[in-house]
Amino acid sequence: MSSIKVIGGSKLKGETIIQGSKNAALPIIAATVLNQGVTILRNCPRILDVFHMIDVLKELGCTANWEGNTLIVDTTYISSTKVSENSVQKMRSSILFLGALLGRTQEVSIAYPGGCSIGKRPIDYHLESIKSMNVSQEFCGENNSIIHCYTDKIKGNDIFLRFPSVGATQNVILTAVLGEGITRIFNAAREPEVLDLCNFLSLAGARIRGKGTAFIEIEGVKALHDVEYKLSSDRIVTGTYMAAVAVAGGDVVLRNIPVNHIESVSNVLKRIGCKIRVTDDVMKISCNKRPLPYDILKTQPYPGFPTDMQSQLMTVLSLADGASTIIEEIFESRFQNAKELNKMGANITVENENKAVIRGVNSLQGGLVRAYDLRAGAALVIAGLAALGTTVIRDVTCVERGYEDICRDLRSLGASINYCSDNILACASYPMA
Ligand code: EPZ
Repeated sequence: MSSIKVIGGSKLKGETIIQGSKNAALPIIAATVLNQGVTILRNCPRILDVFHMIDVLKELGCTANWEGNTLIVDTTYISSTKVSENSVQKMRSSILFLGALLGRTQEVSIAYPGGCSIGKRPIDYHLESIKSMNVSQEFCGENNSIIHCYTDKIKGNDIFLRFPSVGATQNVILTAVLGEGITRIFNAAREPEVLDLCNFLSLAGARIRGKGTAFIEIEGVKALHDVEYKLSSDRIVTGTYMAAVAVAGGDVVLRNIPVNHIESVSNVLKRIGCKIRVTDDVMKISCNKRPLPYDILKTQPYPGFPTDMQSQLMTVLSLADGASTIIEEIFESRFQNAKELNKMGANITVENENKAVIRGVNSLQGGLVRAYDLRAGAALVIAGLAALGTTVIRDVTCVERGYEDICRDLRSLGASINYCSDNILACASYPMA
């Protein structure tokens, strides 16, 4: 079933528990390869991207088994150092096995990850950084689409990132942990998911200083050891459900929130009219009037406003009482959702790949729309909550990449929402749960 049907118009009420973080789980699953043993990951989200990472582990000769939301990974044996084109095409984050396999076996062959709907997603920062750590790189295979990296010994080095790339920072850390000497990363990404990776690796015996800052120093060690680690909650899933309240109205409780990682999103939602109260890891959020516009909302590297929340805020601002501008600074084609929201009656002008102007309308109309990427799909789901009538969002498999069960979570907040068949006519008349 790759469509979601939402019947809009009702305010949200109830509570839901936030899942584990997708973007913490993916690098940490790759990192388990650095330990020749067993790793236990708690609070691991059961999402498509995690399933794909588990497929890669199995491709390498490892095993992984679930016990509820606990993933037990055994990387004692590595029988291959090849990550196939099929795996990388299914999920570009498999590129994080580049650093992990180099650290463990000093060799890796991995397909070059392509772009996706939000951008070209190059990996030049990854490759030039790792090359400077005494790693040889060759391009082979058809169309030179396979990267073969190998070394007799990884040597620590000073790495200056031109942009605080999350993936490049993570791949350098993964390469450096079992290398020789000290690696210093200047202009490192400060995203909470980089901190989560560093906390996991430190618990497993790595020597890392400057965790969570723009300057990270890794001193290579001989080996890591078995560890049990609890992943942080997902800050973007949290922000998505906060935006749902802003757009549909209501009063809800979100439990198990990553309270230290959502300040920029909370500040924006407070500015547009949400009331937010946090006690420990529980948030009470309410919004019972039309959202206010936001003059200029700019996406930035952490701790700035996250690009992964841009589509969701576009939905909220499409109903604001006035005009707002969004400046997308991170990815070059992350405004595709505008045309889907305009099909629902929004008034959004994409001036160029970095700038969209949203003139708020009184209401959105339900209709048939399409999810172009993970966060755009989630943004259309929350648009359906506020729209008059029924909205059917097609191609929602991309949403299942990052949300364990967005219908389950929003139903527990009182929404009329469910998955439905791909046959749109059947879907439109599909009974709600
Ligand atoms: C991570 O992607 C996240 N994915 C993305 O979340 C998130 O949007 C992004 O960080 C920014 O926060 C995961 O963590 C799995 P980057 P990543 O390297 O690491 C350019 C989601 O919805 N760049 O920080 O790929 C790149 O083109 C996903 O959960 C280079 O030019 O992001 C982009 O413009 C979407 N060369 C910018 O940097 C490189 O070698 C940021 O990319 C690497 C990146």
